Amino acid sequence: MAQRSSRFDLSTRLLGWWYNQKNKLIKNIRIQDFLARLPLTSRVARKEGEAIFQLMTGFVDTQILLTFVKSGALEHLEVNSLTIQELSEKIDIDVKSTELLCRAGYALGLVHLKSKKIFLARRGALILSLPGMIELIDHHSILYEDLLDPILFFSGKSETKLSKFWPYVFGEAKSLDSEDVSRYSDLMAKSQFMVARDTMASIKISKETKWLDVGGGSGAFAKELVKKHPSVKVSIFDVPSSNVENQLLKFIPGSFFTDEIPMGFDTISCIRVLYDHSDDTVSDLLMKIYSSLPMGGRIVISEPMLGEIIPNKWGDTYFATYTYAMKTGKTRSPSQISDLLQKNGFTRIKIFPSRRPFVTTVIEAQKN
Ligand SMILES: C[S@@+](CC[C@H](N)C(=O)[O-])C[C@H]1O[C@@H](n2cnc3c(N)ncnc32)[C@H](O)[C@@H]1O
Repeated sequence: MAQRSSRFDLSTRLLGWWYNQKNKLIKNIRIQDFLARLPLTSRVARKEGEAIFQLMTGFVDTQILLTFVKSGALEHLEVNSLTIQELSEKIDIDVKSTELLCRAGYALGLVHLKSKKIFLARRGALILSLPGMIELIDHHSILYEDLLDPILFFSGKSETKLSKFWPYVFGEAKSLDSEDVSRYSDLMAKSQFMVARDTMASIKISKETKWLDVGGGSGAFAKELVKKHPSVKVSIFDVPSSNVENQLLKFIPGSFFTDEIPMGFDTISCIRVLYDHSDDTVSDLLMKIYSSLPMGGRIVISEPMLGEIIPNKWGDTYFATYTYAMKTGKTRSPSQISDLLQKNGFTRIKIFPSRRPFVTTVIEAQKN
């Protein structure tokens, strides 16, 4: 044991030495100049420079996008191409600033400027076409306000606005006010479209499936599921007032904090549910789901996840920070979720390769 730990110390020290030497070379201006003259290394140097600049300025891009969304500029341009003057009148921003904004939007791929007119570009059109995208972009102002003092934010000492925006996670479901629940459900429902697509594309769904969507909100996933698989019987288990107006779906009100998970289903899904909660809550929920499933039944988990040993850009930066701001949950890696599943009795755990990790990653496991 002692021998293994000293070998470990030695390799860590060697690694430390290697990083030190490498960084000393990288920091040397004369070496930087020399490398910038060689074809291969000059590309690396330029890419690093761009990456640092992007890290520094990303917030400016975000705010330009937000201005296009909040001012309604994208929607106006969807209807018609406009001159700077016309757009300026429509969005109530003076001509000079509108021009600056449009040039910035052009550089970011949101609009095109041609023949003195502004046209909606592909990226702008896609933003308008993706359900919930405009609302998602808009609600990020809350997270960015929380991040204004990043040291305070990451020290965990600040009270975050985001944790108030998503109130349902606090305490008992009974304390929820229905306006809060519907504001929350609406944003989640609109952004569900892509998650549902990627989830259904990953797993096999047989015709006779009896499916319970735990934390299914207003039934957005369930609606996509029955649209694609009309013979599947879907119910939704969520806190009261998450409201489902669709006749094809059954809504079972309840809270997994205090109630058992209903029985009679062979597939139970948790779509974007676990990352809102602590390990203890998730473990209790998985235990309840395990008890309610029949032998051979399966659980489907779908949500954005962290990378494994090597962090990934979406999970480890954005989603981890977002869930950190919410204060009650955390983004997990596929293997962390698999561990929780295994601890609660599930076997045959399958992690599906994700097409769009910024949308979701899917895990399936069975009760055997
Ligand atoms: C992030 S939303 C996801 C909604 C939906 N699955 C989706 O992906 O759009 C989390 C859902 O879990 C529900 N939820 C939170 N706490 C719950 C509880 N204790 N019991 C049942 N549902 C709960 C919320 O009401 C909400 O609908």
